[in-house]
Amino acid sequence: MIRERAYPVDPWHIRETRLDLDLMAQSESVFALSNGHIGIRGNLDEGEPHGLPGTYLNSFYELRPLPYAEAGYGFPESGQTMVNVTNAKLMRLLVDDEPFDVRYGELRSHERTLDLRAGTLERIVEWISPSGQAIRVRTVRLVSFTQRAVVAFLYEVEAVDSPARLILQSELVANEQLPPTSKDPRVAAVLDHPLQAEELLEQRTGGLLVHRTKASDLRMAAAMEHLVEAPGKHAVTTEGHPDWLRTTVACKLEPGQKLRVVKLAAYGWSSNRSLPAVRDQVGAALASARLDGWEGLVEAQRDYLDAFWDHSDVKVEGDPEVQQAVRFGLFHMLQSGARAEQRPIGSKGLTGPGYDGHTFWDAETFVLPALTYTQPSAAADVLRWRHSTLDLARERAQTLGLQGAAFPWRTIRGQECSAYWPAGTAGFHIGADIADAVRRYVSATGDFDFEREVGLELLVETARLWRSLGHHDRHGRFHIDGVTGPDEYTAVVNDNIYTNLMAQQNLFAAADAVKRHPDLARRLGVDGEESASWRDAAASVHIPYDRELGVHQQSEGFTRLQEWDFENTPPEAYPLLLNYPYFDLYRKQVVKQADLVMAMYVRGDAFTPEEKARNFAYYDSRTVRDSSLSACIQAVMAAEVGHLELAHDYLGEAALMDLHDLHQNARDGVHVASLAGSWIALVAGLGGMRDSGGQLSFAPRLPSRINALEFSLLWRGLRLRVEVTADEVTYSLRNGGGSARLDLLHHGKEVTITQVKPVVLAIPPAPPTGPQPNQPFGRAPVRRATGS
Ligand code: BGC
Repeated sequence: MIRERAYPVDPWHIRETRLDLDLMAQSESVFALSNGHIGIRGNLDEGEPHGLPGTYLNSFYELRPLPYAEAGYGFPESGQTMVNVTNAKLMRLLVDDEPFDVRYGELRSHERTLDLRAGTLERIVEWISPSGQAIRVRTVRLVSFTQRAVVAFLYEVEAVDSPARLILQSELVANEQLPPTSKDPRVAAVLDHPLQAEELLEQRTGGLLVHRTKASDLRMAAAMEHLVEAPGKHAVTTEGHPDWLRTTVACKLEPGQKLRVVKLAAYGWSSNRSLPAVRDQVGAALASARLDGWEGLVEAQRDYLDAFWDHSDVKVEGDPEVQQAVRFGLFHMLQSGARAEQRPIGSKGLTGPGYDGHTFWDAETFVLPALTYTQPSAAADVLRWRHSTLDLARERAQTLGLQGAAFPWRTIRGQECSAYWPAGTAGFHIGADIADAVRRYVSATGDFDFEREVGLELLVETARLWRSLGHHDRHGRFHIDGVTGPDEYTAVVNDNIYTNLMAQQNLFAAADAVKRHPDLARRLGVDGEESASWRDAAASVHIPYDRELGVHQQSEGFTRLQEWDFENTPPEAYPLLLNYPYFDLYRKQVVKQADLVMAMYVRGDAFTPEEKARNFAYYDSRTVRDSSLSACIQAVMAAEVGHLELAHDYLGEAALMDLHDLHQNARDGVHVASLAGSWIALVAGLGGMRDSGGQLSFAPRLPSRINALEFSLLWRGLRLRVEVTADEVTYSLRNGGGSARLDLLHHGKEVTITQVKPVVLAIPPAPPTGPQPNQPFGRAPVRRATGS
């Protein structure tokens, strides 16, 4: 799985020091900038060569028919695909009549740097044109965290040894041609000419384009404006066409002289607002960007990130590669959700078209745990977005003959978009994942207004779904049959433990919330009988167990299925979903991703330590990690059952998913769940953090190569810092005033932390570890301690 390192190790930067055309598409994802509202891939300024051009707006999508050879009742008819919108990144340069194109002439040096503290992507290039003219180009770009509709670019060109005539063409381009896609189902469908022109406005230094989609009926506007500084005489003109707008700057430079252009761009979009309203909105965004200017935007970006890192940074001593990767992961996590503001977080954020830009349980289960403790308002916003789609989820439940709300397995706007129901509609656990995110958010923030406005209804409607989906057998046991758990290689099963335990928690949480808010609950039509039926079902949820083997069954009957022949599965046959029929995967003991192991993390209270150790060893040896969502959770459970070196290995895999392109599909966008998952692996894994039942607890222990770990959490308005070394832990509160106190558990022992002074506690000796886990043949993670 290991590949040549594309980016040198550096604690706060991702640098590319040479341009490798084969790695371009990966770098475009790695260098993508986003604020959760707008996303731009790290394409070269001049647009070509490219791997995959991309500019995305959160929830801007087109509909497309979902083709079925044999359709069935309740199959979604229409899919949603994120649109590659009007490109504002393009800045083409002509040097004495020759286009600046790195494939021609001589590229003397190339360096791009993603600065995680500045929130900018910088590029410095020295190029000699085919006719011998040397130039130095420096560009910097940002997608503003503080002005969410604004993207800004700085473009500087210097003539090196001789005078040069420069023409810079800065553009907005709609309906760019995209490269064809592969047969991999995880890759997005390509839409041909998705945008219809509505309006064009040209002014001397910029202008705007308005377009709309044909079927989804969404309108977008993109505007640009340029601030030009050139020595001596220069000309600025703008011309347009319905699908493009071009501002041209022409000038002559003497050696050592520079042309400096700042391009400010703004986006606006809506399903409701009129053309003048959207047009005026981008005009206003540009006016606001102009007010701050380039320097002001750069400064505000850094201030925003300083504040973020101050309470979210995770320090890892002893493994610099993981240190860099974890910060990179946190940066992309922030980018995916910072300003999404009641819109979803896609599984690739806004960094690429993979999975058509859909959101999955990735958001609630992998991104929100980290966001809740670092950027809680962004976590709340994702749940508010879910809440805004409740009517669609109720409708879906009705279509399926169920009560309550059936949230979609994958979507952009809220309708189910999965055309493959065994790994789509059957993934009902998404409802419980949303409920768990509500529970976690309320518990971590104490935001009871949120619970009243949003949380309660989400809990109630998801609980109703479970009650109608499951049934009591003649012994009173509650079963949930015919569902798919997280492991998509085992589909449409009875009593998937993860689903059952999450549903159980969902049902109890709904009944408890109803008790806290009786009036509101009545308004939602909940009476005592209904909430009692939730408690009944929850109390009698069936948990399948194999007595002979002494392990839980991921779902009823799982442990009696035929074993997968790992010895005869060649490395190139992974991911198995691209090389074996589902029917074969479904009837054998092969696990795509943490499922029962995930249940042991999120519902740790339902298993004894011995059960956890035995289950972990059993399932680790059958889990192939064909999903990037797996390694981080395996890290958490490996740490809990005492396999710290293995936890470190899995942490490395989660964190390096995109920097090392471990799944060889980073080109389609970064794996946001895995990147946020590296926070989970460190904080919940090595830090042993759990937050069940309103109780914060830690059980830190470090693997041999990591000699110190430090992280912070926001908990009910307090900032807790946890510093871990090989033998002790320091807990301190960083705000909250003299009376602030936080009760937590340290390795099971109650401790109160106040602001008076940090509390230093020893790490107790580790209990004996359980059976040694082995991974399927050829699937062991890279060993972090030895680097093999
Ligand atoms: C995984 C799902 C995940 C989806 C999007 C699939 O391969 O099995 O669990 O939600 O990818 O990341």
